[in-house]
Amino acid sequence: MSDTVRNVTRGPRPALPGTQPTQARDIEAMIRVDQAGEFGALRIYEGQLAVLSRTHPGSADVAAIRQMAAQEQKHFDVFDRMIKDRAVRPTALEPVWRAAGFALGAATALMGEKAAMACTVAVEDVIDEHYSRQIERLDRNEPELKATIEKFHADECAHRDEALERGAQQAPGYPLLSAAIRMSCRLASALSERL
Ligand SMILES: [Fe+2]
Ligand SMILES: [Fe+2]
Repeated sequence: MSDTVRNVTRGPRPALPGTQPTQARDIEAMIRVDQAGEFGALRIYEGQLAVLSRTHPGSADVAAIRQMAAQEQKHFDVFDRMIKDRAVRPTALEPVWRAAGFALGAATALMGEKAAMACTVAVEDVIDEHYSRQIERLDRNEPELKATIEKFHADECAHRDEALERGAQQAPGYPLLSAAIRMSCRLASALSERL
């Protein structure tokens, strides 16, 4: 027992039991879900553009969606880089989000431009809550990750504001559509943290 005491008192100060690994796991889960979420967002916009660039070529809404998609691509690239640099296991659900994201985007776009905007508002609302929670939880140990999420959070809120200005709330069946999309996004997010 005296050996143990000597080791503990003379060695480097030990981490509180269980705090280090849990924190590392938390950060990994954050990066995993964020990379998955940005990928999903990108696929939603790709689905919307596949439909709207045919049904509404040259519309201002299509141009706006293109700009949002370009930002989602940048967000995704940053988290994808982090996944590789930090050797984080990516979500196993990538094929699901690839298909489901595109399908959600295409389906809402088939309902019309306003429904496509309603989809963006619902998705970005969930992402707003999600990134806000992460920003709150991140401490001084992860300044770069925190600054990245803060920047992306601002972009997502701007996407929501733009979609609202473009008449999202005038979409037919807005409350139901919005509630269904929010529920799906929360489920997707919870699954991607774990799987
Ligand atoms: Fe994004
Ligand atoms: Fe976004």
